[in-house]
Amino acid sequence: MAATGVAGRLEDELGRLDAAGLRRGLALPAGVDFSSNDYLGLAGDAGFAAEVARRVQRAAAAGEALFAPASRLLRGHLPVHARLEERVARFKGAEAALLLPSGWQANAALLTGLLRPEDRVLSDERNHASLIDGLRAARCERVVVPHLELEAYARALAAPRPAGQLFVVVESLFSMDGDLAPLADLAHLCRRHDASLLVDEAHATGLYGEPRGSGRIEACGVEREVLASVTTFGKALAVQGAAIAGPRRLIELLVNRARPLIFSTALSPLLAHAAEAALDLAEREPERRRRVHVNAGRLRARLADAGLGVERAGSPIVPVVVGDNRRAVEVARRVRERGFDVRAVRPPTVAPGTARLRVSVHADHGEAQLDGLAAAIVEELAR
Ligand SMILES: Cc1ncc(COP(=O)(O)O)c(C=O)c1O
Repeated sequence: MAATGVAGRLEDELGRLDAAGLRRGLALPAGVDFSSNDYLGLAGDAGFAAEVARRVQRAAAAGEALFAPASRLLRGHLPVHARLEERVARFKGAEAALLLPSGWQANAALLTGLLRPEDRVLSDERNHASLIDGLRAARCERVVVPHLELEAYARALAAPRPAGQLFVVVESLFSMDGDLAPLADLAHLCRRHDASLLVDEAHATGLYGEPRGSGRIEACGVEREVLASVTTFGKALAVQGAAIAGPRRLIELLVNRARPLIFSTALSPLLAHAAEAALDLAEREPERRRRVHVNAGRLRARLADAGLGVERAGSPIVPVVVGDNRRAVEVARRVRERGFDVRAVRPPTVAPGTARLRVSVHADHGEAQLDGLAAAIVEELAR
């Protein structure tokens, strides 16, 4: 007998996902990691783990709280948070910073805390779900702009002004396509049209910019032209948590207005110690980010040589577009069976018809691993 009520709904919805080749499940890691965002190779680095443990032990010995089960406004704010916020502000070349327990919450906090219904926000069509949902929650006017089309941005900026303020929101390194927003051009357009630029640096943190490696805002030299940015600790820095960086008055306002900050437990102090250690390491060892780019160039060249439509130059996020949902899952499964942990990404994470393998290149991948993965992808796609 067919299930009814809520049970029926669950069966229906899961059945529909199955039929569309869109059913997901959780799979434990297996094989060489070409899937996580551990670009600098810190997650499995014994030296990094030992350094985090040393810092946590030192803090405990000094009587510092290691747990803070409260909102930042209710005793959840500790010296390590204050220190890390100053550190992130310096890292990003901003006046101040505000920690949140995740990048998702940081985007939600920034957008809902800053924007008002009379504002208009131009949002790139491939922006991350946390930006999309943050804008929806902010209830501002949203204009979705074709992916990185500067002329479309210029046209939308030139439209009659809204009653409120004008903003542009982009990722600096797009998480599923691995392409780069032209931040200098966007900053120029924003200046010309009196708009403010907000940048999600989730995937660029630790990978771009000299000398600090703080992201593409630093690399493009637009620190003074970006109103605010989001840095995440859970990708290249291998920890978890995030920070908004921007002018001091904006941070003060967010402490008062940002519900994801006010109504949520503070970032764990343990993670704040780990994030400090990761920032130190990323700044101290620029060779790691150089290695990521060398490795990405090698994998991209191998895939491009095989005619897979992968750009030769580009970031460590390498999309191999397969198209069909089921085929993408099947190819990823077969590549995993050959010892490389690669996952398929399907709609709604990417546009319909563009299901893909999203390959993530790390500093600690060896040449044999990169070449082996390229061969496995090429062969499994040809089957
Ligand atoms: C572009 C982008 N922004 C924000 C986030 C959210 O960050 P977090 O994982 O720290 O919540 C992600 C993570 O998937 C992301 O890819």
